[in-house]
Amino acid sequence: MATDGYMTGFGSHFATEAVPGALPEGRNSPQRPAFGLYAEQLSATAFTAPRAENRRAWLYRIRPSAEHPPFAPYDGAPAFGGAALHDPLPPNRLRWSPLDYPDAATDLIDGMATMVANGGPEALSGCAVHVYRATDDMRRFFFNADGEMLFVPQDGRLTLFTEMGRIDVAPGEIALVPRGVRFRAALPDGRARGYVAENHGALFRLPELGPIGSNGLANPRDFLTPVAAYEDRDGETELVQKYLGRLWTTRIDHSPLDVVAWHGNLAPWKYDLARFNTIGTVSFDHPDPSIFTVLTSPSDTPGRANADFVIFPPRWMVAEDTFRPPWFHRNVMSECMGLIHGAYDAKAEGFAPGALSLHNLMAGHGPDVASWRGASEAALKPHKIEGTMAFMVESCWPFRPTAFAMAGEALQADYDEAWGGFPKAVLP
Ligand SMILES: [Fe+2]
Repeated sequence: MATDGYMTGFGSHFATEAVPGALPEGRNSPQRPAFGLYAEQLSATAFTAPRAENRRAWLYRIRPSAEHPPFAPYDGAPAFGGAALHDPLPPNRLRWSPLDYPDAATDLIDGMATMVANGGPEALSGCAVHVYRATDDMRRFFFNADGEMLFVPQDGRLTLFTEMGRIDVAPGEIALVPRGVRFRAALPDGRARGYVAENHGALFRLPELGPIGSNGLANPRDFLTPVAAYEDRDGETELVQKYLGRLWTTRIDHSPLDVVAWHGNLAPWKYDLARFNTIGTVSFDHPDPSIFTVLTSPSDTPGRANADFVIFPPRWMVAEDTFRPPWFHRNVMSECMGLIHGAYDAKAEGFAPGALSLHNLMAGHGPDVASWRGASEAALKPHKIEGTMAFMVESCWPFRPTAFAMAGEALQADYDEAWGGFPKAVLP
């Protein structure tokens, strides 16, 4: 099914052509594809990955993507490619205020800052969380050899022109560009800020639903993949890639977004977080936040995610005799949180939209004093949390902040005070 330039379904086997007759029928690599197009397979899993895991696409393009000169190091985005990690990793809870927009015209590549990272692209594991602040359209092209990129816009829309079609994504929606797919980003609102979760590990997929059953959380039909769209444009331009943590650049003489038709189950998509079917308690106790998992990237250990993408959306709170916000906790999993809009129910202040927090392995955290007091004293009527959307990238590997993140003014030196001044319990 197609709607407004998109096809529906998560991981579906799509087939789309921008020019009738461009897509071969009944085979992938005919001797002479239509119009002299070049057939190319793009794989995001090993050829021999189990069928249920296997993700690849066949692209039919005006020129082969192999046609380019060597790449040379690119040093225009020092906070992105080549971002040094802070060492040693402090066990402290960390929080950053929203990063400001740059004064100079800055596109999405140069406006990207890596905040925290774990694992590594070479090991095909772990993930990174970046913040982008862009004030100019990309007039060049980018692809990420290190992993798939999950865009979480916070301020301003993005238009992602990708090899496989066009995605318009606004705050409240998320969009994914697969590993290796070329794209450029335009800014319909003149500027844009948001987060990117870069996943080096197993591809994001929908979580198992277990006893929830066959429906709920993010439903597959709500994921939108663009129909084929291409640029037949000659002229010198730049192609930048991220490869093993570094940025590299080369010059090409045409738009690389020249895929006229494609088919397969590896494709970009977008998803409206308002479509998330949120599930919670209707009796007592705050459930584990795993019920809010939108996407998961499993590790090699069952049940232990390389990366989960989790949201805290508007929802009814009805639990009886229950402290309703997240409880105090210390976890073996590490949590990096951001806020898209509104307020998060465990923090009364200091966590503005665009901010980022980090609670790593065994760091004690939970509600701040004001949130604890408010929730402890509240009358437990049914209450709807509205106008908010927070998210978390949770990983089994502790996140290391970058030197950029630790040195910047956005780092909140007083974050620990969120948990200062709790009254002492009084024993009989
Ligand atoms: Fe937590």
